[in-house]
Amino acid sequence: MTQRRTKIKDILNSDKSEYKVNIKGWVRSFRNNQFIAVNDGSCMGNLQVVIELGTDEAIVKAINTGVSVSVDGTVIPSQGRGQKYEVKADTITILGECDPEKFPLQLKNKPSLEYLREIAHLRFRTNTFGAVFRVRHTLAYAIHKFFNDRGFVYLHTPIITASDAEGAGEMFKVTTLPFDNAPHNEDGTIDFKEDFFGRATNLTVSGQLEAELGAMAFSEVYTFGPTFRAENSNTARHLAEFWMIEPEVAFNDIYDNMDLAEDLLQYIIDYAMKNNREDLEFLAQRLADEEKQKPMNERSELGLIEKLEFVLNNKFERITYTDAINILLESPAYKKKKFQYDVSWGIDMQSEHERYLVEKHFKKPVIVTGYPKEIKAFYMRQNDDGKTVAAMDILAPGIGEIVGGSQREERLDKLTQRMQEMHIPVDEMYWYLDTRRFGAVPHAGFGLGFERVVLFVTGMTNIRDVIPFPRTPKNAEF
Ligand code: 4AD
Ligand code: MG
Repeated sequence: MTQRRTKIKDILNSDKSEYKVNIKGWVRSFRNNQFIAVNDGSCMGNLQVVIELGTDEAIVKAINTGVSVSVDGTVIPSQGRGQKYEVKADTITILGECDPEKFPLQLKNKPSLEYLREIAHLRFRTNTFGAVFRVRHTLAYAIHKFFNDRGFVYLHTPIITASDAEGAGEMFKVTTLPFDNAPHNEDGTIDFKEDFFGRATNLTVSGQLEAELGAMAFSEVYTFGPTFRAENSNTARHLAEFWMIEPEVAFNDIYDNMDLAEDLLQYIIDYAMKNNREDLEFLAQRLADEEKQKPMNERSELGLIEKLEFVLNNKFERITYTDAINILLESPAYKKKKFQYDVSWGIDMQSEHERYLVEKHFKKPVIVTGYPKEIKAFYMRQNDDGKTVAAMDILAPGIGEIVGGSQREERLDKLTQRMQEMHIPVDEMYWYLDTRRFGAVPHAGFGLGFERVVLFVTGMTNIRDVIPFPRTPKNAEF
């Protein structure tokens, strides 16, 4: 019988040798007809497999980058530099061949991230994407652990919904009606009563409204699921399908909300630093190499690891929207007309403004509160000034907005009035308003964009490179 497979990570991390193993994985390189670097994805490092001179010619010929192999052999201290252990092969079996003339990963020397996006189905097999997706996994796990350890209930909110939680109308429709022969009402509009759910439905843009219902019973809940936005923004920070973490906490106000978001971010960064050190160090080096290509004045001052450590060791800056606008108005960038978009109280800050605040002015993550109510969603709690709401956005260096949240308007009259002003269908949303009718309490929550936090932690610069299969305008390959 063949031996049970040992993970390469366990071999490299152990402190023993002189024992028999079976390993399986994919060949990353083959040198001198003798040294095979095998990777099984369990860690960044490859295991060096040494084959005996005189191994079957046919097998030696078949070994190439990309080939999958099974190796039985003995773990021994490595003679070569760069690794502590290697495996001396007794037998080697080719599981799946790989033609080097056709293998897309091998057709280019140093394939660019753009090229790898075109072969996203294979890019997991590179060091960079191996590291990114192991870190992504760890962050997801750390998020669940953070909330679980604090007694939150993980609530699965629906993916198909009839409501537009953000009131922004950027939704993908879900329907089984035939496009060319949809039933119509007398006024010419589509008759969704005939549709699968008997009403118009769409993919969710946020699980918040349903999370609020849960918070009114469990006190502390969170959702962590896919969200969909049909906004036509082809930027390095927008996806049409992304994952969002949305905690919702009864009895919390906007300050508790800020504390929770800051704790969550620091916790998961710390967790990744402790559990994915090797991956992060690799990504830090990758970023440093990339930075070297940039002109001096555009290079970031901190390396990836230093940046993460800085975030762990420093409180986020907390400022009001009004202060933020004043800082921008006073900035050399504004005075020298460096901003593309104008600045005045009331604007929805553009990413150039957000990045100025975090990268140039404060040089750390910033929590901005008290936004004008006109630019924020209907559910945010209205401040006494009549102009602003208890909103909070967290802005991160290199990314811009990473978290958006608020204290919620728990006063039924104020909420209903705001919904009417913003043309949100009050009757249809009776279920949401019931939380304000039956035992309403102050509460608050936020949404953390998962891919944005993965960008931040991995130091990658394009959001398409931190989700396995990105969905963006005109792109849903794989
Ligand atoms: O600020 P947003 O729109 O807030 C909400 O959806 C609230 N319902 C959250 C809540 O209070 N429970 O989105 C929250 C976060 C943003 O800060 C951003 O990080 C991320 O979601 N996000 C996107 N990430 C990738 N691609 C997009 N198109 C995104 N839109 C928002
Ligand atoms: Mg937002």
